[in-house]
Amino acid sequence: MSLQRSALVASGKVYRTHGISKRVSQINISAIKEMPLLASKVEGCVSLGQGIPSFPTPPHILDAVCEKMKNRQDSGKYTLGPGMPELREAIARYLNGKFSIGADPDREICVTVGAMEALSAAVLTLVDRGDEVILPSPNYASHIEQVLLAEGVPVFVPLSEDGWQLDVEGIRRAITPRTKAIIICSPHNPTGALFSEADLRAVADLAIQHDLVVISDETYDFLVYDGLKHFSFMSLPELKDRLVATFSFSKKYAMTGWRVGYVYASEGILDHLMKIHDAMAICAPTVSQYAALAALEGPQDCVAEIRTALSRRCDLICERLRGMAEHFEFVKPRGAYYLMARYRKEGVDSMSFALRLLYEARVITVPGSAFGPTGEGHVRMSFGGADAAIEEACDRIEKWLAGARF
Ligand SMILES: Cc1ncc(COP(=O)(O)O)c(C=O)c1O
Repeated sequence: MSLQRSALVASGKVYRTHGISKRVSQINISAIKEMPLLASKVEGCVSLGQGIPSFPTPPHILDAVCEKMKNRQDSGKYTLGPGMPELREAIARYLNGKFSIGADPDREICVTVGAMEALSAAVLTLVDRGDEVILPSPNYASHIEQVLLAEGVPVFVPLSEDGWQLDVEGIRRAITPRTKAIIICSPHNPTGALFSEADLRAVADLAIQHDLVVISDETYDFLVYDGLKHFSFMSLPELKDRLVATFSFSKKYAMTGWRVGYVYASEGILDHLMKIHDAMAICAPTVSQYAALAALEGPQDCVAEIRTALSRRCDLICERLRGMAEHFEFVKPRGAYYLMARYRKEGVDSMSFALRLLYEARVITVPGSAFGPTGEGHVRMSFGGADAAIEEACDRIEKWLAGARF
């Protein structure tokens, strides 16, 4: 049974499909969001589910927003469609400082309602009915729905399971005359992998050879552990006209609820993407744009503090899972704050495993099948929650596994 279906059964709700477009009937709310909905009906759950970091938005961002709300009449009004000019300029300064790409704040940057809107708009801008989009898999669940919403065809290319790395040869073999784009996310949700510079350069070469667009989901660009370095497609000038890079303030500045991110693309693509942004959102929320400006212009110690805390939580959850080695195997994350745990239970699908964890152990995880076919046999665990929540969740899982019958 799909999670959607399980959720419907659990809530007693039945979908009416008559009169609903085929485009929408064929997509699902991602299991990442469905699991907390199911869990809201289960008393006392602890979450390793949705990727919400435990940190509050830093006080200097809140102060700056309060000041603007009190003193600026425009804080309750729409901004220009692509976003406040001073925010776009700050974003361009940040990108140019990091990548020396000469990003133009007027022509190449649009502030969006989170990276999510940027990704949806990018896919809708580029993908026609029947176009194929390559997704190294397992992959972020919403990338699949975004491709389906555009009536495109997701083409899954498995990551190597020993280290969750890109299979560049597999990607080359998956390219057909209908291939339009490839979506890459590094550091990676759901595996915590960090893709190597050599593989990312090879993917860029393939995109150039085969006239594809690279959609680079940079949501976790700041979050790499153990002194490793993140390589971004933004560093490749040869890719400029075929790159759409999406960024988020959600995780970097503990701003998931503010719903603000941005997209960088060449003018030729952004001009068209802006039409979708206008139809969907008009502009990103003005107060959130002020928050994003304060985040970019303020002290950056908060980012380092988040990284340090998450690195410690990564070690903590890995240590706890190593203590359950007869039940789970996993690859230690190099970035982001997720890991895919393969459970050693033959013949149990990940949906059943995750639902039993929810209802019997009262621990929220996300079934691996939500992340494409290669996710089956796993559950995704987020270690964005507080240390005590991770410890409690692991205690419950350990106790449950000791008694559960399969
Ligand atoms: C890989 C990935 N892309 C995009 C998003 C959406 O980010 P935002 O909150 O900026 O919309 C998320 C959120 O969890 C994510 O994990």
